[in-house]
Amino acid sequence: MLIARTLAALHEGCARLRAGGRPLALVPTMGALHAGHLALLGAAPAGSAVAASIFVNPLQFAPSEDLSRYPRDEAGDLAKLAAAGCDLAWLPDVATMYPPDTATTIEVAGPAERWEGAVRPGHFRGVATVVARLFGQVCPDSACFGEKDWQQLQVVTRMVTDLPLPVRIVGVPTVREPDGLAMSSRNRFLAPEDRRRAPVLAQVLMGTAERLAGGAAAAPVLEEAQAALREAGFAVDYVALVDGPSLAPLDTAQDGARLIAAARLGSVRLLDNVGLP
Ligand code: PAJ
Repeated sequence: MLIARTLAALHEGCARLRAGGRPLALVPTMGALHAGHLALLGAAPAGSAVAASIFVNPLQFAPSEDLSRYPRDEAGDLAKLAAAGCDLAWLPDVATMYPPDTATTIEVAGPAERWEGAVRPGHFRGVATVVARLFGQVCPDSACFGEKDWQQLQVVTRMVTDLPLPVRIVGVPTVREPDGLAMSSRNRFLAPEDRRRAPVLAQVLMGTAERLAGGAAAAPVLEEAQAALREAGFAVDYVALVDGPSLAPLDTAQDGARLIAAARLGSVRLLDNVGLP
């Protein structure tokens, strides 16, 4: 596996991987890698060389969110990437990603406005900006993003469609722990008692999705889902039935609907979502 820490090394590495016309897939991450991240590598279009980036992006953290607390394990991450067949690891530092004279940010409206966009102002500006910069640096043919962060996947897809950027976005199903909890680098911060409660989020979403798929009016069913989560000890930010691509709220199920939720256990904020069966 090639390891690049400067733009010059990145461009040289990408040129080597592309020799013979092989396409290049990019997997953007913030590190602290788990099986969910590694599934993205496996989802790259057949025949592609795969590059993964590790960059804890300060621009997507609010001042109130503890950037310094974000878990970092470069040596462990590089070993996991190499074992998963990654061809190139791109590890820029902050000055490489955001030179001091940087004057451009990317603001996506539409799917970025509600839910995470409302709870975390500026978050998706940070995500879209760093993803656009990564696309400019790596020039991938495709890029893989997890359905785990459903709204992020839609925001990136919207950006690529609107600008328009020549990158195919591949959405990858959520990888879960055996008890159903969606894998996340934040799970390690759950207190033992909260870790035992955490799978309730996925259970409630799956049960609620089944009820909504039967055609029930969403409002009372979503209210019951929130009550069940509060009963289990969660502080609920939202549970919503939305149109998948636009994230607009729906009154009843329709094709492409998605059930999305964010809820906190202690100081740990969990995100999850499911399609309707
Ligand atoms: P990060 O949280 O490290 O996630 C990197 C990618 O892994 C994202 O596309 C995310 O959706 C995916 N992922 C995380 N957990 C997953 C799971 N359990 N199953 C499937 N995929 C999963 O998301 C980010 O980083 C950043 O916002 C980033 C896109 C890198 C921009 O900074």
